[in-house]
Amino acid sequence: MIPSIAFHKNVSPFSALVYGAWRMADGADTSAQTALTKIERCLDLGITTFDHADIYGDYRCEALFGEALKLKPSLKQQMQIVSKCGIKLISSQYPDRRVKHYDTSPAHIRYSVDNSLKRLGVERLDALLIHRPDPFMNAHETGACLDALVKEGKIAAAGVSNFSVTDFDLLQSAMQTPLVTNQLELSLLAQHAFLDGSVSQCQQHHIRPMAWSPLGGGRLFGNDPVAVRLRPALQRIAQEQGVDIDAVAIAWLMAHPAGIVPVVGTNQLDRIGRLGDALKVKLDLETWYALWTLAAGKEVP
Ligand SMILES: NC(=O)c1ccc[n+]([C@@H]2O[C@H](COP(=O)([O-])OP(=O)(O)OC[C@H]3O[C@@H](n4cnc5c(N)ncnc54)[C@H](OP(=O)(O)O)[C@@H]3O)[C@@H](O)[C@H]2O)c1
Repeated sequence: MIPSIAFHKNVSPFSALVYGAWRMADGADTSAQTALTKIERCLDLGITTFDHADIYGDYRCEALFGEALKLKPSLKQQMQIVSKCGIKLISSQYPDRRVKHYDTSPAHIRYSVDNSLKRLGVERLDALLIHRPDPFMNAHETGACLDALVKEGKIAAAGVSNFSVTDFDLLQSAMQTPLVTNQLELSLLAQHAFLDGSVSQCQQHHIRPMAWSPLGGGRLFGNDPVAVRLRPALQRIAQEQGVDIDAVAIAWLMAHPAGIVPVVGTNQLDRIGRLGDALKVKLDLETWYALWTLAAGKEVP
């Protein structure tokens, strides 16, 4: 069973693995019943935290998730929901938009949160993340808006995603409530956040980074040259420990002392069912660095 972990004193515990809903409306079967089956498969395993964004599936994923929950509303008590806002897509749903852009104004954040709550059919988000650093952000207005949303109970906590250390510090300096996470691209195929200070900053603030695309969005299984270099070692470890290579790649993130929480995105029920295998994998320090070295293509200096 995947355990729940203390995430931050301001929010209910999150599960140690989070299910990401980005791809939920992909593929031929986008019925509410199929979405419900995926949600229940996650909950059965102990994956109780679900990651959304207003824009996922061209603004359809939250609504699909909400439709699934309407089939079994009692599930809402068993889960935590994270969503994001701040990106404005070119979309048939917003025909007046001329360019994809960011909007972290209070008006847009409030509009987006209200829509997310309505689509998901919940009273409150367990965390709202600002999806991307916005070069046009007025940190004082954005920060005050996030604080107010926490006070009003529309969100339990605020966080960020893809923020540099400087952007994180700027927004935090304009807020009273603590930012509870920075959701970062982190995997064997995306090591930069380990080196640019983002993961270190989470340790400094005693908050957990969330890792998006922990399997490189599927690139780990394809022809990506780094993946090709890594796979024999991953396969050897996987075979020794009786799991698949995805479990090893996820375990590699979870082994890190920053307490990384991977956000997984498979749409396949059998793969969801095996996600708990990541917790069985034991990686000693040299094995962790052996994989780092293969991923980086060179030994550490
Ligand atoms: N904050 C951000 O900016 C940001 C950006 C991107 C994503 N995210 C979040 O992160 C979540 C996860 O992202 P992700 O979906 O890219 O994560 P991922 O788990 O790295 O990748 C999932 C993809 O890998 C494929 N896959 C998984 N296991 C496989 C295997 N054994 N063999 C072949 N293919 C395999 C899946 O295909 P199948 O479905 O066929 O298994 C799916 O297409 C998203 O849902 C979203 O919540 C956040």
